[in-house]
Amino acid sequence: MKLYFNPASPYVRKVCVTAYELGLSGKIEHTSVILTPVSPHDGVRASNPIGKIPTLVLDDGTALYDSPVICEYLDALAGGNRIFPAAGAARWTALRRQAIADGIMDAAVLTRYEDAVRPKELRWQNWVDGQFLKIRTALDVLEHENLEGAFDIGAISIACALGYLDLRFASEGWRTSRPRLAAWSAAVGKRPSLATTTPAVP
Ligand code: BEZ
Repeated sequence: MKLYFNPASPYVRKVCVTAYELGLSGKIEHTSVILTPVSPHDGVRASNPIGKIPTLVLDDGTALYDSPVICEYLDALAGGNRIFPAAGAARWTALRRQAIADGIMDAAVLTRYEDAVRPKELRWQNWVDGQFLKIRTALDVLEHENLEGAFDIGAISIACALGYLDLRFASEGWRTSRPRLAAWSAAVGKRPSLATTTPAVP
C-alpha cells in the first residue's frame, strides 16, 4: 500500500499512529508530498479528486481517503474492532471524539494556511478568531471528558490534534487552563506510535 504522506499533517499522523498500533506500519510505503490548497499535487489528485492527504492507494490501485476511512480500513485489515469499537456507547463516544479532534485539526490547518500561505493583504482577522473559538471550545470540552481507557480512534485523533497545536500554535498555550488534558497528552505521548511520529518544525 502507498500512503501520500507529509509528516506535519495531523490527518496523516492519525493514519500512521493507527497503522503502528495495529502492527501494519511495515505494509505501508510512504510517498512524501508537499501541497496546499493553492499548490496541489498532481499525483495525489490523480488518486483523490479532492487532492488531499492522507490518500492511501491499495495494491490493486484502489484509493481510499480521508483519514477516518483509511483508519477504519486498516482496522478491518487487522481483524476489526481493535481501534474502532464494535458497537454501542463506546463506538459512538470514539467516533464523536474523532469528530471533535478532526474539527480541531480542520480549524488549526486552515489557520496555518492563513498564516503561511495567504498573502498578508488578503488576511481576515475575524475569520482567524472564529477558527480559534472552535479550537478553544473543543479543547474545553475535552478537558472535561474522561479519556482514560482504550487507545481507540477517538484517543488517537485527539492526541494528533494536540500534537498539531504544539507544532504550529505552541504560543496558544493550550495546556495552561486544561491540566487534565495536558496530563493525558503527556501520558499517551510515551506510546511508541506517538513518540515515533512526533512532527518537527518546519
Ligand atoms: C503543515 O505544514 O502544517 C501541514 C502540512 C500538510 C497538511 C497539513 C498541514
